[in-house]
Amino acid sequence: MLSKATLSPPMSESPIDIKDVHEALKSIIDPSKGTDILSADQVKSLSIAGDRVSFVLEVDPTRGEAMEPLRAAAQRAVEAIDGVASVSAVLTAHAAAGEAKPSKGKGAPPDLNLGGAMPKREAPKPTALPNVKRVIAVASGKGGVGKSTVSANLAVALAARGQKVGLLDADVYGPSQPRMLGVAGRPSSPDGNTILPLRNHGVTVMSLGLMVEEDEAIVWRGPMLMGALQQMLGQVQWGTLDVLLVDLPPGTGDVQMTLSQKTEVAGAVVVSTPQDIALIDARKGIDMFNRMNVPILGIVENMASFACDSCGKVHHPFGHGGARAEAEKLGVPFLGEIPLDLSIRVAGDGGAPIVAVEPDSPQSKAFWDLADSLIALETGPAH
Ligand SMILES: Nc1ncnc2c1ncn2[C@@H]1O[C@H](COP(=O)(O)OP(=O)(O)OP(=O)(O)O)[C@@H](O)[C@H]1O
Ligand SMILES: [Mg+2]
Repeated sequence: MLSKATLSPPMSESPIDIKDVHEALKSIIDPSKGTDILSADQVKSLSIAGDRVSFVLEVDPTRGEAMEPLRAAAQRAVEAIDGVASVSAVLTAHAAAGEAKPSKGKGAPPDLNLGGAMPKREAPKPTALPNVKRVIAVASGKGGVGKSTVSANLAVALAARGQKVGLLDADVYGPSQPRMLGVAGRPSSPDGNTILPLRNHGVTVMSLGLMVEEDEAIVWRGPMLMGALQQMLGQVQWGTLDVLLVDLPPGTGDVQMTLSQKTEVAGAVVVSTPQDIALIDARKGIDMFNRMNVPILGIVENMASFACDSCGKVHHPFGHGGARAEAEKLGVPFLGEIPLDLSIRVAGDGGAPIVAVEPDSPQSKAFWDLADSLIALETGPAH
């Protein structure tokens, strides 16, 4: 039987035969149906890029997390194929048509969807967010390179330039935006179903950090992550936005994949520090966005230089120019250099990004330039 699983064209010659992948997936039987997952058309967005395979496993929304062993088995089966270096298998739940989420009708925001069942109204293809002109992801391969700092400053700078800006903190592992943008308190929900985001420095903000207690430990599993992220995208009353920035966790995991599969992402800004180790990871991130058909808007080099107060010299603790060279090599725009400076860190920790507190400082200049480049780039068609 011909599978309806879709296969994106590989970016480069791949040692992996699609038939082997199909065979491996055919060996996995969904116990709830008694049929194999490939014949049952549960495998979506199957993609092979070099030695990496990625796919989405669609399951009954009422079973959600219970299907995690099936996902793991499918992943293992594909991992066992000769020549496969890594497999990304993501669980998703398809929406049953016509189902509506019951409204709690109270002031409390809806609980985070941690049970694995996905919010309804889900479509198999990326869909545009209503009233949001463009979604821009801020990403990096390596952690701690400054995504959240760049997102916060860029959001404030774009808002100051007259854009209607939302900032979604999608870093489930370490949400930073409540602290960086100085918002606190659990968001309210007048209808018990949609969530009212918070607002500061002209930016509409929503963060998973606002939905869970600060010391609440959550072990995120694939389906929980996807449910929570989709709630943040679909149930938050973002209003009319020119741009929704999404501050991503580091790497190329479930959050990045879910975002680009579920939502039309106009482009990604990749943040890197100049040294090789960060650039290698940045390249992986860029490769993932390419596979997900998300355009790379450009690379930003953070912590590019350090002006020493005592000796007056400019130092380059992480090297210099690596990100610019990488951008040239990859043929993507270079969006500027941000200095390493104590004032940037202090402002971020204090809840008011440097462009808000010292807009005319040399440290802020790079963020203004970045905002202006993004406005000039006119990313993607407006919906
Ligand atoms: N240009 C800079 N100058 C000084 N400090 C900076 C700069 N950029 C980031 N920092 C500081 O470095 C730390 C890490 O930055 P940030 O949280 O923005 O990185 P991240 O890439 O979002 O990290 P994670 O991967 O954990 O989400 C923060 O304390 C931040 O204030
Ligand atoms: Mg961060």
